[in-house]
Amino acid sequence: MKKDFLWGSATASYQCEGAWNEDGRTPSLWDVYLHENNLENGDVASDFYHRYREDITLMKECGQKTYRFSISWNRIITDLQGTLNPKGIKFYHDVIDECLKAGIEPLITIFHWDLPDYLEKLGGWLNRETITHYVDYCRVLFAEYGAKVKLWATFNEPRYYVFSGYFIGNYPPGLNDAQKTAQAAYNMMLANARAVELYHSLHLSGQIGVVHSYGPIYGIDDTPATRQAMRDADNYYNNWILDTAILGYFPEDLLTKLSSSGIKLDFIEPNDRAVFEKNTVDFIGLNYYARVMIAPYQGGETILKINNSGKAGKGTSKIVVKDWFEQIFDLPDTEYTDWDTEIYPQGLYDGIMMAYEKYQVPIYITENGVGAYEDVTKEEINDDFRISYLSEHIDAIMRSIKDGADVRGYYVWSTMDLYSWKNGTEKRYGLVAVDFENGCQRKKKASYYWYQKVCQTNGAVIESKREYNKNYLSMWDLNKEGL
Ligand code: NOJ
Repeated sequence: MKKDFLWGSATASYQCEGAWNEDGRTPSLWDVYLHENNLENGDVASDFYHRYREDITLMKECGQKTYRFSISWNRIITDLQGTLNPKGIKFYHDVIDECLKAGIEPLITIFHWDLPDYLEKLGGWLNRETITHYVDYCRVLFAEYGAKVKLWATFNEPRYYVFSGYFIGNYPPGLNDAQKTAQAAYNMMLANARAVELYHSLHLSGQIGVVHSYGPIYGIDDTPATRQAMRDADNYYNNWILDTAILGYFPEDLLTKLSSSGIKLDFIEPNDRAVFEKNTVDFIGLNYYARVMIAPYQGGETILKINNSGKAGKGTSKIVVKDWFEQIFDLPDTEYTDWDTEIYPQGLYDGIMMAYEKYQVPIYITENGVGAYEDVTKEEINDDFRISYLSEHIDAIMRSIKDGADVRGYYVWSTMDLYSWKNGTEKRYGLVAVDFENGCQRKKKASYYWYQKVCQTNGAVIESKREYNKNYLSMWDLNKEGL
């Protein structure tokens, strides 16, 4: 591994900060949605707002060289009139300074799903005006922090945000509307290009990219119908973000497919194309949790059923997109978490190789980790399953680097336990435990000590023993054939 490889971990503002109504912060759409529906919320979360020094010290002691976190837009700009909040601005200066003092490179995510409620009230990402507000917000961030921060991500997981909020409906604003899904997706990608344009125009010395929830596509068999379903699934899950952000426009066959599926593309304006083409990202952040196994569409209506509880029972997720594809969640001889996430580290290797061959831009693995129920009241928290999960995934990254991919950093999700959206605080991902019932006290897990060795030896302690089942066709195979 190169000496400057960045080992680190990641969080997001709403998931860890708490202090939801302190020091001038106004509500985001998540505050309102969770309060109104009486659901578990992030009012306190991991209390990072008050404990960030302790958390950064823990990262430093672990040997981490980078920390990915996001900024709460509504802590910085508190209303539609653009009022700046000096206390919010100062908070992130303090976090950044603390990181720099500890030798930790900050990677800032500008938007990690917590849209200010004052913008959601006007239609959120369905409203093109939101793009202008977003660019104004970016301008504030670049002016305040641009000299200190070298790595920026415009958005975290546009696909997850848009599909969950507008298509599946399990996240705010809770809609199930294909037309609106396409429109919000388009506006977000245009906002991405606009932010890149602004950042590059300022000639700061850092880089800007986008973070994508990467789902490398595989097919259940090698028939023409499966190959077509794989291509459609790749457009649906990956290409509208990666092609658009890196190559500069939406895949033509995606636009054709959307039109033939009854989506009106009248939200596209003639001058947009040049904005996409001219403003492409410097790097990509890939969040990897699992591959996506695809079969051809068999008939019936669209079904979008997500196992959000971890108690629903394995295999209760079901995704059928009418006339596009079906997603398989019950492969034989395959390991899944209680939330139906397949454990398949080889997918990370294949995915990196595929993305690097196709796009030739630097890659950061901006999230990777495993969520589980854990008893954090025990004296020692032995999360061996996490150690083997992380170890196998890091091994996959190291193999991809050996095979030529330009991967520059790795972020464990998550730095400490935090609030996992609809999965609540019960689904834990942290290297450090947070005792939510006991004033959010921190306790290092076994994985923390193990990751310390990884960071300190620059990955030399990693060995993976897993055998991979290579029976399935991957999108990478198809790309190699030029499809
Ligand atoms: C993706 C998201 O970026 C993050 O917010 C979420 O909690 C994790 N993955 C785990 O699901």
